[in-house]
Amino acid sequence: MSNKTVDVLVIGSGIAGLMTAHLLADHLNVMIITKANVMTSNSSCAQGGMAAALSPQDGWQLHFADTLKAGQDHHNPRHVEMLVKRAPAIVETLVNLGVSFDRNEDGSITLGMEGAHQQRRIVHVNGDKTGRAFTSALIEIVKNRVTIQDYTMVSRLVTNEGRVIGVETEDEIIYANATVLATGGMGQLYSHTSNVEEATGDGFALAYRAGAQLTDMEFIQFHPTLLMKDDQTYGLISEAVRGEGAKLIDEHGIRIMDHHEGRELAPRDVVSREIHRVLSKGRNVYLDCTMIENFHERFPSLDERCERLNIDVSKTPLQVVPGAHFVSGGIETNSVGETTLPGLYAVGEVACTGVHGANRLASNSLLEGLVFSEQVATHILTSKRELHLAPLSEAAEVQFGELHLPTKIEIQKRMTANVGIERELKGLLDMKRWLHTFLPAIPISSKDDRDTLERKNMILVACLITEAAIQRTESRGGHYRSDFLNRDDQNWIGQYITFSKKSGV
Ligand code: SIN
Repeated sequence: MSNKTVDVLVIGSGIAGLMTAHLLADHLNVMIITKANVMTSNSSCAQGGMAAALSPQDGWQLHFADTLKAGQDHHNPRHVEMLVKRAPAIVETLVNLGVSFDRNEDGSITLGMEGAHQQRRIVHVNGDKTGRAFTSALIEIVKNRVTIQDYTMVSRLVTNEGRVIGVETEDEIIYANATVLATGGMGQLYSHTSNVEEATGDGFALAYRAGAQLTDMEFIQFHPTLLMKDDQTYGLISEAVRGEGAKLIDEHGIRIMDHHEGRELAPRDVVSREIHRVLSKGRNVYLDCTMIENFHERFPSLDERCERLNIDVSKTPLQVVPGAHFVSGGIETNSVGETTLPGLYAVGEVACTGVHGANRLASNSLLEGLVFSEQVATHILTSKRELHLAPLSEAAEVQFGELHLPTKIEIQKRMTANVGIERELKGLLDMKRWLHTFLPAIPISSKDDRDTLERKNMILVACLITEAAIQRTESRGGHYRSDFLNRDDQNWIGQYITFSKKSGV
């Protein structure tokens, strides 16, 4: 197996990975490796935009309060303050990188509305093509300054005496002073998801296997509105569409969010649960957008998608279903993105910085990726550089009998049924028992192809989510237990469920 050495290795090409690479590229030898094409990421699919308190009637304090309310007071307030205070400067940085935000006639940046925000504060580009615009601008700026190795999957992190010193891929070992996991989320663990096909939770599994600590894995955000036609989903319908007045109705045209505070713009967990309830009664749910007059200009990519599906948005409500969208927990990091393992950083969705609490506020994810990549890059630049290369001990080859791994579809179906929008002890324990039968088969082998590696990662991450969901005997944000209906501050406020290989799952 060949090997190479770089200063900084970034795994993943969403905005967090790209921004980290950009900020380091003039000083260090940086390499990005990514599982598919460099443009393929959840970031590039982001539609709604990025939250920043820019309007005269807004301020970081209001953005801070909305973030805490949506996430049900399960945050790291210091990190939240840093996030929301930095947002206007991040907008400026993006403008300087050439991002053309949508603007009003007077030249000010247009601000959209989304659920659980008390002010219009969502900046966007080309209507609903925000993520694509951010990632394209960053790719343009890094492409000649860093090495980009695409279609490459990492099978394990290489460690030496507890320090991460690089990664192993299918055919090489890449040593690095600093390894940055920016691998995004795990939406593919569920039957319906807004996430790209590549989002199989690899970063969480890599970090866990290497010994890092993970936190808050039970908090999975289900986005209320994925576009559905003929039993198939066709991507996200941005919350910004509800921000412009679209209404959720059942098949009789009755509004389903009428009795909730905030109505269609209630926090995502509330809206998703209500849709789930209506669906569980065998009734379909639709998003009526017929009243939005400038739909074509405001939501061009959704408009194109509907046209391809022969849906006339001006006449027909869109059928919707909730889907896995974002995990608020992840690999535990401090304010500069360091994980509990020396040499390993995590940034973006894969990290748990504590800024999302139990349920992320809409449009705070691009912001988190950009703010914390600045933190990571600054820390790497100011840390002492030492090479930590060491003779590599071979990974033990794993022998397991005839135990076959389940298919992705089987994992997705069971996760959706047992560890989905509504959870209860029996389903969670059934899921745990089922997953544990595969544990002997999930250590990594050099013979694993990509599909096998992904399924092993999915099983491991599913175990972490299921175990955390069993332990948290309350409902809060993205974790809803029908056998513990309420938030239980007496027993659970400030309580975090963490796992590492030492504690096991
Ligand atoms: C959306 O546009 O609804 C998704 C944006 C986000 O998840 O913050």
